[in-house]
Amino acid sequence: MGRVSESRTELLAAIDQGTTSTRCVIITRSGEVVASAQCEHRQIMPRQGWVEHDAAEIWANVRQVVSQAVVDIDATPEDISALGLTNQRETAVVWEKATGRPIHNAIVWQDTRTSAIGGGDPERWLERTGLLASSYPAGPKIAWFLDHVDGARERAERGELLAGTMDTWLLWNLTGGARGDEGRPAVHATDVTNASRTLLMDLRTQTWDEELCEKVGVPLAVLPEIRASIGDFGTVRHRGTLAGVPIAAILGDQSAALFGQACFEPGDAKNTYGTGLFLLLNTGDQPHFSEHGLLTTIGWQVAGEEPVYALEGSVAVGGSLIQWLRDQLGILRTAGESETLAREVPDSAGVYVVPAFSGLFAPRWRPDARGVIVGLTRFADRRHIARAALEATCLQTREVVDAMVADSGVQLGRLRVDGGMVANDLLMQLQADVLGIEVERPANIETTVLGAAFAAGYGRGLYYSLSDIAGLVPIESSWSPAMSQVDRGVLVDGWNRAVEKSFDLAGDE
Ligand SMILES: Nc1ncnc2c1ncn2[C@@H]1O[C@H](COP(=O)(O)OP(=O)(O)OP(=O)(O)O)[C@@H](O)[C@H]1O
Ligand SMILES: [Mg+2]
Repeated sequence: MGRVSESRTELLAAIDQGTTSTRCVIITRSGEVVASAQCEHRQIMPRQGWVEHDAAEIWANVRQVVSQAVVDIDATPEDISALGLTNQRETAVVWEKATGRPIHNAIVWQDTRTSAIGGGDPERWLERTGLLASSYPAGPKIAWFLDHVDGARERAERGELLAGTMDTWLLWNLTGGARGDEGRPAVHATDVTNASRTLLMDLRTQTWDEELCEKVGVPLAVLPEIRASIGDFGTVRHRGTLAGVPIAAILGDQSAALFGQACFEPGDAKNTYGTGLFLLLNTGDQPHFSEHGLLTTIGWQVAGEEPVYALEGSVAVGGSLIQWLRDQLGILRTAGESETLAREVPDSAGVYVVPAFSGLFAPRWRPDARGVIVGLTRFADRRHIARAALEATCLQTREVVDAMVADSGVQLGRLRVDGGMVANDLLMQLQADVLGIEVERPANIETTVLGAAFAAGYGRGLYYSLSDIAGLVPIESSWSPAMSQVDRGVLVDGWNRAVEKSFDLAGDE
């Protein structure tokens, strides 16, 4: 890691609690990464369609990566101006106020067990919350705990339980947990971006909507306080390595990536290629509601200001398809091998992979879909499947871009990308080909955690304006479309037919 070249008191720390791993980075005010540590956690899949995490394991991993990053550069809490938190969104946990023990494993955003919730008119939910009543939001997951863990609902109503998304769980633990902070309770709060993923928050007022909470079955007593994303979340009190550092920002991972890509102006968009794919378009101070299967969410809110809204296309399976090829099918040894294998063939020989593992999210929203591999002939081998997996990533992104253009009427001129998958240069070229526009990759692809650190710095007044931050995230590489319009048309047509084959395959899970 680099030498600390600036005043030590201008260091910023951020924790990115992701779906597959937890990271901590420490950066200088100018965005130079001086320390970084990462640790994976278990993916618990007790049944088909269910995905859980052990929240206690994740909290232990947070302590570990933070210690490692701090020790690596021999820093003390006094060196660090602020801490920012970012997290996998919609993953929900409920724990005991008195002990800090989770009452059940956390339910992960990809989990489909709550798909029956919602009912009624999906438009009504969209207009009030920005979301569709699918299995995706966090609120119904909280209700699931209360309905399925013995005695949980009564305990919740008695005020013995606390609920939240991962940000809330970590904030509460960082600010003292069950022990609290010298007689004061730990901070039980969330930020507007995370709250906007619950199906329980009124998007326009940024408060819990009592009617929706009642409908979903979540008592207000268990819910955290909603605060602006960039502001005051208290001080680290846990007697670990960051004790005394102010927590100045909390953002859901996709919002943090939007911030970290410096998409500060209406019309700016980014696509993050991590476990899933998440394209967000800044729409300014007004929420814009989609007619083409996109969600409306909050980009960020600075304390005392109006929130910045975003249109979002959420695709459930992105990099996790590559992990599946590696871990479940065993046709790759590493994620990076998807590129070397796919480069060995000129095309995917008519093979399409539709990774509808949790149904299809944006823009199609088909809970009845399940994954298919189609177009197989005796000629096809693992290289074609690897290539088809990369193409699937690009084609799913294209569907979301098309929806965004249809909703906003604005043609995207270029796409800014980030996330673990964008290390794959072939994927980047294919993405430019499939979209027919330029794809731009920043020097640091860890935009999520960088965004959380910048936001925390902004909250503590380390930057004069957002444009100060924009200058800190330079584009390093770009790709121009090289595919003919005819070839693109053939690929997209084949994809559309393949997607139809994935419909109506979900059994009784
Ligand atoms: N060279 C590569 N080619 C294709 N996919 C890759 C490559 N390197 C990593 N990946 C995929 O990228 C994903 C990891 O990206 P990233 O670390 O951004 O994920 P993430 O979504 O942030 O994780 P988390 O959800 O834990 O935050 C993994 O699913 C992995 O399979
Ligand atoms: Mg991530």
